[in-house]
Parts: sequence; C-alpha cells; structure tokens
Amino acid sequence: FGIKAAVLLRIPDILSDSLEKSMSLEEIAARLQGTNIQLAPLRRLLDYLVVKKVLLKIQSLEVPGEFKYGSTELCEMLTESKFARLLMLQDEVVTSGWHHIHEFILHGGEVPFQRAQGMFIWDYMEKNPEFLGLFSQGMVAISNVTMDSVLQTYHGFDEIRGVLVDVGGGFGADIGRVVEKYPHIAGVNYELPHVAHAAPAIPGVRHVRGDMMENIPPADAILLKTILHDFDDDEVILVLQNCYKALPHGGKLIIVDIDMDPAERGPFESLKFAFDLVLLALTKGGKERTSVQFTELLTQAQF
Ligand SMILES: C[S@@+](CC[C@H](N)C(=O)[O-])C[C@H]1O[C@@H](n2cnc3c(N)ncnc32)[C@H](O)[C@@H]1O
Repeated sequence: FGIKAAVLLRIPDILSDSLEKSMSLEEIAARLQGTNIQLAPLRRLLDYLVVKKVLLKIQSLEVPGEFKYGSTELCEMLTESKFARLLMLQDEVVTSGWHHIHEFILHGGEVPFQRAQGMFIWDYMEKNPEFLGLFSQGMVAISNVTMDSVLQTYHGFDEIRGVLVDVGGGFGADIGRVVEKYPHIAGVNYELPHVAHAAPAIPGVRHVRGDMMENIPPADAILLKTILHDFDDDEVILVLQNCYKALPHGGKLIIVDIDMDPAERGPFESLKFAFDLVLLALTKGGKERTSVQFTELLTQAQF
C-alpha cells in the first residue's frame, strides 16, 4: 500500500520527468498537488520506498550531508503509463475476495469474490462501470508487457488471411496491436455487450458483442489470451468447442496463457503461483494450467 500511495502521488512520474532523475524531499513536495503537504509523512513514505528498492537515497552533491531520492528501474515501472495494473491488482474490490480464501478451502460453496461481493466478478463489472474501467485498463497495462514478447517472438500472425477474432479481448488493445503490426488482418474484438459498449474505437478493429459460452463469430483465426485460465474445465471445453465451430478447416487457434509446467521454471515462478491464487479468489473454477492440461482439454474439445 506504500507503493500504491506513491503511485497515487505520481512520485515515479515526478522523478522520471526530472532531469537528473533525483530530487530532494522538498523538491518532490513542491511538485505534489495538495493543499497542505505533510513533509514528515512524505519523508516516511519515501524512506519506505528506499528499503523496498523502488527509490535510491543519494548523497546530495550541492548540500553536503543532505540526501536526494533517485529513481530506479522498478520506479520506472510505476510511472503513469504502466501503473494501471497496480491500481487494479490492489483495488479494494479485487482484493475483497482474498479475505475469504480460507473459508472457501474449509467449506467450499461460494467462491471468495462471490462471498465478498454477492456476485461473480463479470456480473459485478456489468453493474459497476467504474470498476469495469479500472479492471480493463489494468488488464491493458498487464497485457502490454505480455504482448511485447508475443509480438517479438511469435510470427504465426503473418500467415493469417482474413479475420482474427480476439475472444474476450477486453477493450481491444491486444488485437489493436496485432493489426497495427499486421495490417492485412481484419481484427474483431469479441466481448460481453457492456464491455464492447465501453471499448474505445481502434483502427482496424471491430467490436462485436456476444457471449463466448454461447457462440463465437466466424473467424479465420482466433486468439484466446488470458481467457481459459478464468474458467473451470467444463467451461474451457465449451469455449474451445465454440472456437472449433467458428473456424474453417485448417483454421488457427492461438492460446496465450501461463504454463505451470515445473520444467518451465524461470524468473516469474512466484508470480505464476500468485496469479493462480488470484484466480482462486476471483473466479469460479479458474486456474493456471500446464501445457499438458491444455492439450488434454483441446483433445476433449475435438481439436
Ligand atoms: C482476464 S480478461 C482478459 C482480457 C484480454 N484478453 C487480455 O489478455 O488482457 C477476461 C475478459 O473476458 C471477458 N469475458 C468474460 N466472460 C465472457 C464471455 N462469456 N463472453 C465474452 N467475453 C467474456 C471479460 O469481459 C474480460 O474482458
């Protein structure tokens, strides 16, 4: 929450905009938009950020014995263009389910988010447009990082001819980036009606409203990015069957999700397990899976 406070105060942006990427306590305070800036609490927050390695404490060259606070690589990750993911992951509605994980383990029944909010998360978004905006912008910020490496390492978009449907594409940022790089592709963002309605216009992308559990519009290729992990095995099979029906013979299905295979250990190991717990708290039966589990589900859906 200290990091959340720093983000809300735009401290990473203030430091990033400064010429030397470092400032004194007073210089940072002068850039804050408050009516009665509290220097001592600000210093305590900044010192916390130093021990969390978000900031560096640097000896001032101008005033011996005084310090400046400097930006780090981690701090750069918290600037405005990138912090939407943090605001989403730390939002009080998103985290409300986390307080009920133990009850779900003990008694089953309502999933943690449902116990906290009285409904499933997708229904909550439909009823709360502000939360929908926060969630979808957070997903865009998380997704931008994944999409950077998808677009760098995966070249299979090149051979798609015709329509690529991004199923559950949120506000359409991912399919927007794909068609920007591969303008020969006609992009469709297929989303629940209230999400498609709130999505911004994106060049080369048509927002189409619908429910992937019922049907998916005809496509030459389909993208399922961080979708299957939101659902239990039966629902995943249903979505995959609907994909199969929407595709022509020889069509292409692209799945982007975390691979929990223990052989795939890497720097994001703890993050993978953290996301799995987030899914336990937020969704009805969603979980991260191994590539072997995905293959089994694809086989059951007749792929
Ligand atoms: C975890 S987000 C993933 C968004 C995007 N694909 C990404 O990777 O950032 C899941 C998305 O699926 C959408 N969704 C959930 N249930 C759906 C359904 N039954 N039909 C269509 N979209 C759905 C949600 O509105 C949400 O935008």
